[in-house]
Amino acid sequence: MPDYAFNRRAKRRLRLDDDGDEELALAADDDDDDEAVFAKRNTPRRLPAADAFDATDGLPEGARWSSWDQPSASERGPRPYPAWLVTELAAVDTELGILKTGKEADVFLVRRGVPGTGRSCLLAAKRYRAAEHKMFHRDSAYLEGRRARESRAARAMARRTSAGREMISTQWAGAEFAVLCQLHSAGAPVPYPVQVIGTELLMEFIGEPDGTAAPRLAETRPQGSELAGLWDQLVHGLVTLARLGLAHGDMSAYNLLVHGGRLVMIDLPQVVDVIANPGGPGFLDRDAVNVAKWFTARGLAGAVPGPEDLAALLRREAQLD
Ligand SMILES: Nc1ncnc2c1ncn2[C@@H]1O[C@H](COP(=O)(O)OP(=O)(O)O)[C@@H](O)[C@H]1O
Ligand SMILES: [Mg+2]
Repeated sequence: MPDYAFNRRAKRRLRLDDDGDEELALAADDDDDDEAVFAKRNTPRRLPAADAFDATDGLPEGARWSSWDQPSASERGPRPYPAWLVTELAAVDTELGILKTGKEADVFLVRRGVPGTGRSCLLAAKRYRAAEHKMFHRDSAYLEGRRARESRAARAMARRTSAGREMISTQWAGAEFAVLCQLHSAGAPVPYPVQVIGTELLMEFIGEPDGTAAPRLAETRPQGSELAGLWDQLVHGLVTLARLGLAHGDMSAYNLLVHGGRLVMIDLPQVVDVIANPGGPGFLDRDAVNVAKWFTARGLAGAVPGPEDLAALLRREAQLD
């Protein structure tokens, strides 16, 4: 089979439309979660037709054979596979553009479809960068207990050789995938984890069929019963983590997506074991306080448990108190 894999590292911009609209152009130095540059990301996109190509050889630029058959079974998402997921080996992955660039990872929109059948699904591909980034400064706090045991690998990582940096990125991708699998199986509101290969994690795309990504909670202005409904889902999600002895570790209105009234927690590589990690309870409290503040500022009233109760509730559920 010819190798059509494209260069995943290249910051290529795949223009989706033919009128020169640069809606996918993003600042390369977007280094702050809170100041992400989204170029018109909420405007509808015109994606190329699902049957834009119909041949299994001579794939167009930006397409590759589905990588579904590459990872071992343990690197695929939990069974049963969701009905929407394209698992056919004849499928082709087509990269449709960047959803967001970040310092640690870039998130791309990918369509996996079987040529000639009309069967396809959209996926979010989170690709960890093999570069120095801020997460490395948090390694000691977050990767406690997860450190590579093999001394050669540990040395390469400590020296930050390019192979070592790649290993660290692979660890983060693997850590996020494992957490997504655990949380999805426990019924927490997270994207379905499809597969992980090296530094790339593929997951359910949260958004519209036209490729418009769901907004982050921080970008929305829910009120009344909508606000209360999102709060309930958030409490359910965080309680599910706490019962597993986990804290998100970076919980905020920037790591929650809202789609059709559904709240989805994302960005989980740094999930913390609150029992094993000495800083665990602190992470649990910080997560609770961050989101409680946001909901209080939005005017949430009368909820039980309320924002002021969340930190204590999570501690109890994690059996810390
Ligand atoms: N499964 C997904 N579906 C839709 N958009 C996503 C998905 N995962 C991530 N994104 C988008 O990419 C952004 C960055 O992803 P995130 O996991 O938060 O990484 P980081 O903040 O470390 O760059 C998110 O804020 C969101 O806009
Ligand atoms: Mg994030």
